[in-house]
Amino acid sequence: MTRPFAWFFWSLSLIIALASWRFLVLPMAEAMPHMLHYLDSAPVGTWVHMTAGPLALGLAPFQLWQGLRRKRPALHRWTGRVYALAIVASGVASLAMLPGFQGSGFAQAGFGVLALAWIGTTALGIVRARAGDLVAHRRWMLRSVALTFAAVTLRLIMGPLVAMGWTVTETYDVTAWGSWLINLAILEYWQRRRVVLPA
Ligand code: HEM
Repeated sequence: MTRPFAWFFWSLSLIIALASWRFLVLPMAEAMPHMLHYLDSAPVGTWVHMTAGPLALGLAPFQLWQGLRRKRPALHRWTGRVYALAIVASGVASLAMLPGFQGSGFAQAGFGVLALAWIGTTALGIVRARAGDLVAHRRWMLRSVALTFAAVTLRLIMGPLVAMGWTVTETYDVTAWGSWLINLAILEYWQRRRVVLPA
């Protein structure tokens, strides 16, 4: 990871994760009025998604931190378990929220596929680690983190679109797919370049 990218990745992961927990200290109507309708259709799923999603995002940079992995492998394994459990909880919870989603069917499908891919890549990463295949573990976990980071990319794309006059719901037609397909494409390109052109 280059230094500027590491700054970008660490700071945005931590800032968005912490900012997303604002509903823990403010009333939902003030913190996230657009989420109020979910409290009727899927209250437990909504709370679980919004608590566990930011936890996974906040842990992601620590899991990729090579120094910590080398010096404290046991800590890496424990925080890895928490990261994976947070994703399973938040991913399943987001699937429970989707029937109450107010955007288009296209956006709903994008979030649905994202949730399944998020759980799937993370599960494969854990299975490969337990099998002792650390190369495949690293590859699947990088994909998992790319999907976790969709929470950041989504907000980066949403900002300019809202400034151009789109409603938040309209922006989901772009972000429900774009937020994670862009991350995965960048990751796969970077991994292939590293294989073809070793440093
Ligand atoms: C990667 C799989 C994910 C899926 C499929 C997903 C899906 C969704 C959906 C459908 C909503 C409701 C949007 C609306 O109707 O306005 C939502 C909201 C939310 N999600 Fe996720 N999400 C994912 C990951 C994350 C992550 C990693 C975080 C970490 C920050 C997160 C934090 C939140 C928060 C805090 C909200 C409330 C809306 C807001 O912040 O304004 N989600 N998510």
